[in-house]
Amino acid sequence: MIQDWNNRFSENIREYGGYSIGKLFALLKDPEIISLAGGLPSPDMFLIHEMRLVSGRVLEEDIEKVMQYTPIKGEKVLLDAIVRFLDRDNIRVTDENIVVTSSGQHGLDLTGRLFLNPGDIVLLDRPTFAGAIVAFQMQRPEFAGVDIDEDGSNVEGFRAKIESLGKDNKKPKFIYVVPDFQNPSGITMSLKKRLSLLDLSREYGIPILEDSPYRDFRYRGETISSIYALDQESGGGNVIGLYTFSKLFCPGLRVGFNIGPPEVIEAMTNIKEGNILNTPKYNQDMCAAFLTEMGMEEHILKCRKYYGEKLEVFLKTMEKCFPEEMGVTWTKPEGGLFLWVTVPEQIDTHELFYEAIKYKVAFVPGDVFFGENPKRNTMRINFSFASKEQLATAAGRLAECIRSQLSLSG
Ligand SMILES: Cc1ncc(COP(=O)(O)O)c(C=O)c1O
Repeated sequence: MIQDWNNRFSENIREYGGYSIGKLFALLKDPEIISLAGGLPSPDMFLIHEMRLVSGRVLEEDIEKVMQYTPIKGEKVLLDAIVRFLDRDNIRVTDENIVVTSSGQHGLDLTGRLFLNPGDIVLLDRPTFAGAIVAFQMQRPEFAGVDIDEDGSNVEGFRAKIESLGKDNKKPKFIYVVPDFQNPSGITMSLKKRLSLLDLSREYGIPILEDSPYRDFRYRGETISSIYALDQESGGGNVIGLYTFSKLFCPGLRVGFNIGPPEVIEAMTNIKEGNILNTPKYNQDMCAAFLTEMGMEEHILKCRKYYGEKLEVFLKTMEKCFPEEMGVTWTKPEGGLFLWVTVPEQIDTHELFYEAIKYKVAFVPGDVFFGENPKRNTMRINFSFASKEQLATAAGRLAECIRSQLSLSG
């Protein structure tokens, strides 16, 4: 019997621990715990009736095709619907610019596999999406992070990093950003910064990976052009866009898409061929129907109102529960599903997580959102899943828990 399995694993995977927050979620089984941890859209926003209708029709009319292998790049009906979906956001693409993925996480995986050798550098915000970190980690890159500003990536900080890496003959392979209502901070990148980031990308020849799951979830303020659209306005070719239907429609179907220059998309499609072959046709058909016949624009307006109200309730409760003297601060997002909380430095939110469970409330400790050198006094809060009443109760519980930790640490 083979005993030393771990030594036989590939070097890329031997030290790989997967998604550490998934393991924390396993501790949240007690139904009395109000979890602000996951990034789940609310089932209240699921288009259940529409889904049943379309599903019945597809299974009735197309069952043989649904049960068969299908094209790797994606279903034509979905590709066409994506072209129109992006057109409404001033992004002009054709089929050769799109590969359908089995969700955003798969899109990140394809990007990591395509660009990264062990030791290559990814430039990113601090904090940034933990799922991107774990997807890229499979190729064992190094992360160079710069603290994010209130108006998005610190582009001058990125420039300084690129220049200091250049002194050692190193250059980042790409810059990863979530410009709209970033997961985990809720921060949105200003137009000025988007333009400067593009300038930086052009100046140094470093592509930008723009991850946009929350773009339509704006509750206040004006929509800002995507970096992809801005790039196209002046020639294009510097940006790869990453999208998922998980938040806008539903995460269960696991469908998304990547867009970019044909060469990149072709290479990603080849990787997909060796990796999952096709994304299930049924799932793609449901997403195509979402884009074309389930009242998407109305659905987006409904989501904006629903999540926007929850965010407002949560922000108001935070004001009440955390008086200034507690030294707790948080972001005030204009959209998305998350906000970012910073607690006094003496508190380690990993330890606080276990304490908070006793107070029947949960969040994600912030350290998982850093590619390197984590800030341990931070946490991500999700406000989309819990009800408004639960959100208010949860903020109260969190305040009580933090207060008790502060009095313990004197
Ligand atoms: C910024 C970002 N990118 C990608 C993903 C992954 O999306 P999916 O659930 O479709 O794999 C998420 C999910 O939370 C996300 O927040």
